[in-house]
Amino acid sequence: MKIGIIGAGNIGGNLTRVLTSLGHDVSVANSRGPQTLTDLAKETGATPVPVEDAAHGAEIVVVTVPVKAVPNLPSGLLDKAAEGVAVIDTGNYYPQQRDGRIAGIEDEGLTESRWTERQIGHPVIKAFNGTYAQDILDRARPAGAADRMALPVAGDDQEAKRKVMALIEELGFDTVDAGGIDESWRQQPGTPVYGMRGSAAEVTEALAAAAPERTPEFRG
Ligand SMILES: NC(=O)c1ccc[n+]([C@@H]2O[C@H](COP(=O)([O-])OP(=O)(O)OC[C@H]3O[C@@H](n4cnc5c(N)ncnc54)[C@H](OP(=O)(O)O)[C@@H]3O)[C@@H](O)[C@H]2O)c1
Repeated sequence: MKIGIIGAGNIGGNLTRVLTSLGHDVSVANSRGPQTLTDLAKETGATPVPVEDAAHGAEIVVVTVPVKAVPNLPSGLLDKAAEGVAVIDTGNYYPQQRDGRIAGIEDEGLTESRWTERQIGHPVIKAFNGTYAQDILDRARPAGAADRMALPVAGDDQEAKRKVMALIEELGFDTVDAGGIDESWRQQPGTPVYGMRGSAAEVTEALAAAAPERTPEFRG
């Protein structure tokens, strides 16, 4: 599958590693340009590209940049993606440590991913946001393994969500449908499922136990 990854840090770098190892055709971009991604390209066989080109022809695009950088992404980012492209948003809003106060989230009460999809002009599927980057490499297990972790996946577009869940399962993780994007507060920072290494049953239980109010350390 042709996959575009926007952001080549902890999460983008490790997704590039595992997706190329499974034989996917990965294009990867960062803010400084493809010339700064030659080591990752050599290691993985991924194609480093300018961010404007990252989604070209892609069936899945991963947006994995700090939330504060989302408004800096080029307009028309997804214009040349494949029809029906699924866009994964891995973002977490850290107002105090990193992102600053974002009015749409604080004042309008948008979930982080609803805010992000308005910025990029395309629906998103929220996934990997509560997964430690290193776990993407270290915690993959075959289907049915007793210690296989499950990841929550939220999104409004059922077909895109199905595609993303299938990809995550191919990477070595179970998935739990966490509902739509307006409900994705259930997996935001500070919730029981955030950072959890659990089974599908444990993730389901943690999603149900979440409260919609942001905890003080995640308020801007
Ligand atoms: N780290 C984790 O374990 C983890 C786990 C789950 C979710 N997350 C969330 O996932 C997102 C990414 O986290 P991360 O830890 O991977 O971040 P990171 O290591 O800081 O990497 C961020 C990447 O985004 C790129 N970037 C920034 N602005 C950009 C722009 N305008 N255009 C294109 N690329 C841009 C950076 O490129 P340059 O280096 O060239 O600036 C860098 O490659 C965050 O929202 C984070 O909260 C992180």
